[in-house]
Amino acid sequence: MNKNIYFIFFLISIVFSQAPIPKRPDGHKQGDINAPVYLEMFCDLLCPDCAHSWPTIKNVLEYYGSSKIYFIFHVFPLPYHTSAFFMAEASLVLENYTQSLFWDLLDSLYIDSKQQMFWDDAVENTTLEGIKSLMGSYLLDEFGLPNSYFWNGMNDVTIDWNSRVSWKYACTRGVSGTPTFMVNGVYVAMGSDSSLNDWINLLNPLFLNKPIY
Ligand SMILES: *[C@@H]1O[C@H](CO)[C@@H](O)[C@H](O)[C@H]1NC(C)=O
Ligand SMILES: *[C@@H]1O[C@H](CO)[C@@H](O)[C@H](O)[C@H]1NC(C)=O
Repeated sequence: MNKNIYFIFFLISIVFSQAPIPKRPDGHKQGDINAPVYLEMFCDLLCPDCAHSWPTIKNVLEYYGSSKIYFIFHVFPLPYHTSAFFMAEASLVLENYTQSLFWDLLDSLYIDSKQQMFWDDAVENTTLEGIKSLMGSYLLDEFGLPNSYFWNGMNDVTIDWNSRVSWKYACTRGVSGTPTFMVNGVYVAMGSDSSLNDWINLLNPLFLNKPIY
């Protein structure tokens, strides 16, 4: 066979390689599932731009209320943030311990800036096990997560697998950076500097009872 045929097989293999199907629709959800508008946010828990946008997104959710917007937060750890995948796993461990603590973790990492403890420059001399230990102490101090529960979770194959599945899922949606926003499934050009007013201008037309062109 000539080279072109190999190249075509290669292309076919890209098209048909299927990401694992999450057992439940991906993400952490807030609000009424029957709300007219779905807002999705893809974030790395250690990303400063995500931290910057989080207070605004909280304001957007408060402004519209849970009957108007169903919010889905997807965790998308960036490979160039060394501790980000561990934090993604740790967030699932904490959520498995007490579901609502996932949202408290976002406030702590993003608004109280605790993410800085795990930035690359802060852990440059720390081993991977050391980084996990640091997370364990942080989650114990901040949320009372027992250390044994933390380590059990960090070594749990399901926690590991679910963290990978979420990451792969975001890839299938074309996400390559954070924060990425989608409204009713469509990518929107909103970023960490978008204000509440920018969001209102984007979303208000969706609630008007007439066609949008
Ligand atoms: C890591 O080690 C280097 C060399 O000893 C030191 O200069 C640097 O400040 C250390 N970094 C941290 C975050 O402790
Ligand atoms: C998650 O929670 C369930 C129910 O409480 C428990 O049976 C399971 O061991 C937990 N998993 C981990 C990894 O902590």
